[in-house]
Formats: sequence, C-alpha cells, structure tokens
Amino acid sequence: MREAEQIAVIGAGYVGLVSGACFAEMGHRVICVDQAEEKIARLQQGEMPIYEPDLEELVTSNVLANRLSFTSQIGEAVRSSDIIIIAVGTPTLDNGDVDMSQVNSVLASIAANAITSKIVVMKSTVPVGSGSLAEQYLRLLAASHIEIQVVSNPEFLREGSAIWDTFHPDRIVIGAKHPDAGARIAALHASLRAELLMTDRESAELIKYASNAFLATKISFINEMANVCEKVGANVSLVAKGMGLDRRIGPHFLNAGIGYGGSCFPKDTKAQLKLAQNIDYDFKILRSVIEVNHLQRERFVTKIEQEVGRVSGKKIAVLGLAFKPNTDDLRDAPALDIIAGLQQLGAVVHAYDPAAVEHASSLFPGLQLFTDPYAALDEADAVVITTEWEAIRCLNWRLIRSLVKEPLIVDGRNMFEPNDMRELGFTYVSIGRKT
Ligand code: UGA
Repeated sequence: MREAEQIAVIGAGYVGLVSGACFAEMGHRVICVDQAEEKIARLQQGEMPIYEPDLEELVTSNVLANRLSFTSQIGEAVRSSDIIIIAVGTPTLDNGDVDMSQVNSVLASIAANAITSKIVVMKSTVPVGSGSLAEQYLRLLAASHIEIQVVSNPEFLREGSAIWDTFHPDRIVIGAKHPDAGARIAALHASLRAELLMTDRESAELIKYASNAFLATKISFINEMANVCEKVGANVSLVAKGMGLDRRIGPHFLNAGIGYGGSCFPKDTKAQLKLAQNIDYDFKILRSVIEVNHLQRERFVTKIEQEVGRVSGKKIAVLGLAFKPNTDDLRDAPALDIIAGLQQLGAVVHAYDPAAVEHASSLFPGLQLFTDPYAALDEADAVVITTEWEAIRCLNWRLIRSLVKEPLIVDGRNMFEPNDMRELGFTYVSIGRKT
C-alpha cells in the first residue's frame, strides 16, 4: 500500500461514518466531521448514531488504534488532511431539484480553510456536473498558490450490510479530470479486490443515479409482473426464478412485494427524473417506475381491506416498520404509508419492529408500538408483514395461531411458503402468488 493518507470525511451519516471507519481499518488516518455536536459527542463516547451490524466494533478498534477520530470543527479537519471526502446529505427540494445546500456549505468551509493543496472526493450523490462546478468554485475562492482537484467516487453500499459492501465492492468507480488525482484515490482502495473503473467525472456521477434507477426498475417491473400473476393464477416467485436463471437478467432485485423504500431509491429516482426534465428529456420509464412503486403500497392496503372485510375498528398487527431488514431506518418505508392507509380506514394498528420502534414513536398518533411481537399480535384480526426481518421469520407461528383472533396473514414480502402457513391453519395471502 502507498503510505497512509490523512483523510477528512465530512458528514458522519451512513456513508461518511462507514467509509471513514473502513478507510481507517485499511490503515489510513481519518478524521470524521459532523456539524451535529451531539452526534460527535456520542461518537467520541463510542456510541453509534445508527444501527449497522459490526460498526461499533470497527469504530472502537480504530479509535483505540489512533487511526480514527471525530470532530465538529470542519476547519481543523480540512487543515490537517490532504484528502477530503464529502459525504453529506443531498435531499430533495419541494420542486424536485436536488438540495445542494449541505454540499455547498462544505465547499465554502474547504475554500476558507485550505492552506495546502487538497483532493476533494465527492461521495455524496450529486447531479451530473456538480464535480466540475465544485472545482471551479474551489479554485476561485481558495488561495491561488494551492491546487484543489475534485474527484467523483460514488458509493454503492447498502444499509444493513454497509461494512461488508465497503470491503467487498463489485466495483470502484472513480471519475477524475486529472489522472494523478484519480490515481491517488484509486490507491486508497488498493487493498480491496474489486474491478476499478476510471471514468470522466460526469460519467461517474451518472453511474450512481443510473445504477439506483435501474435497480428500482427491476423491482417495479417484478411488482407489475406479480400483479399480472395474481390475475392469471401464476406464481411470481417462480417467474422471477425462471427469469433470473438467464445470466443476462440475473436473480437479484426480483423479489416482488410492497416496493422499494429507504433514503436512496425514492430520492434518487425522483432526482434523476427531475434532472432529465431540466434538460428537456422525458424519462418515461423512470416516471412509470416511480408511479408503480407508489401504487404498489396502495394496492396492498386494498388487498388487506379485501381480506379483512370492514377494517374499521379491527385490530391489525403490522410486523416490520423499517424499509428493509437489519436497519432502524424508517425513511420512506412502505410500512409507514400502509399504516397510514389502514388508520384512515379506521383500523387499530399495533406495530412491531425489532429495531425501529424508538424512531417510530413520534410518527403516528394512535399507533401502538411493541417491542414484543407476541404482545402486538394478541387478539389481532389480521397479521400484516411489511419487512422481511429474520426475527419475524423465526417467530413461533404455531403459538401465534393460538394468540390471534382471526388466523389471517397478509404478507407484503413473500416471506413464507404458502403451504407451510396453510398447514399451521392460517389463511395466507401474499404478493403475486396463489392464496
Ligand atoms: C441502495 C443500493 O442498493 C445501494 O447500492 C446504494 O449505494 C444505496 O441505495 C445508496 O444510494 O446509497 P439501500 O437503500 O440501502 O441501498 O437498500 P437496498 O438493499 O438496495 O433496498 C432498497 C429497497 O428495495 C428496500 O426497500 C427493499 O425492500 C427493496 N427491494 C429490494 C425490493 O422490494 N425487492 C428486491 O428484490 C430488492
């Protein structure tokens, strides 16, 4: 490995915190910055602000080894580092455009504090052209004797398996205008066995949006196939298996269900659609992907209504709040829309999640939250599954059969073999498969 680099990671959210800890583990000296002083204080005490498997151990061991530290003072971090990784949020504005205010504020701090040359790495998901604008801005404002180069290095990690993904990436994408800067960022990843793709900055920026949009397309596609399967009596799991065996299609992201959620796919698909609109291009497929995803949640509420009959006053146990397993993240989680839909119909909703209950407590008045799944299920008129947690799969379903008032399961994640649940005495309804 090239000698250890001095790296500042700005933004201690999912991407920043995980990347910072992983670069420290690879031997670099990393200082993680976040303006949220409380978050930094907790991190300094060894407390993680997010639920992510193995993160606490990784952070603790690298802090002890003096390779990882935390600060809320961006100036100090900029001055002491040669490589500055930007990993702040890029949410959506009301008009659909990408909100670049956090990125811009970081750029201003870099310009104000850089007294030696820097490579700025854009890990935040930003609209195409942002790297070039950032470089122009930094060169204009920073002291004239220093060299600042901006490199695009999009992140492809998934919440819930973020550390594994960082150490075992399918590919590392580096978009650079200056080959030296690109090579130095490539060297940061030298210990990883992954395909390295060097591109121009604009292509790297688009690869991130294109990848998320394509994965979202696979999900909406299989969800539409599931809806067709229901009408013709076919089984979407078998259809997906048969499709996935074709290596050109592949087996991943073909699980039908209640659609995608989280902080990335919903945001990035909408941002890409808006970016296309801004350049007068109507991205028809993407528009449909987003619409199908929205409709899939509505269809699921209708499906529950059809099975339960009159929903008003009925006790419905919703299992799973997080947008996917192994995270406590509730951002744009399908369960939230589904619970809102059920409450609108007058249902009394009892919700259980193994990790996200604390975050959910302020979200819905009237929603009763449970950390004990069996308490949530007691005397329920229907069981609704919205996140495919292993903790839900492993529940004692024989016991649940005796706890519930009506033995009805409406499974939005196709977690079980329909026959197994029928043998336990449940009416089992899932997505795109025969009841
Ligand atoms: C996603 C991408 O997978 C990462 O590569 C990317 O780096 C990240 O966004 C990002 O932009 O930062 P993530 O949002 O953590 O990662 O979650 P995924 O595991 O991709 O799942 C997204 C959603 O799709 C979940 O709600 C999941 O339940 C749903 N999904 C996934 C399905 O409905 N069906 C599937 O077959 C797969």
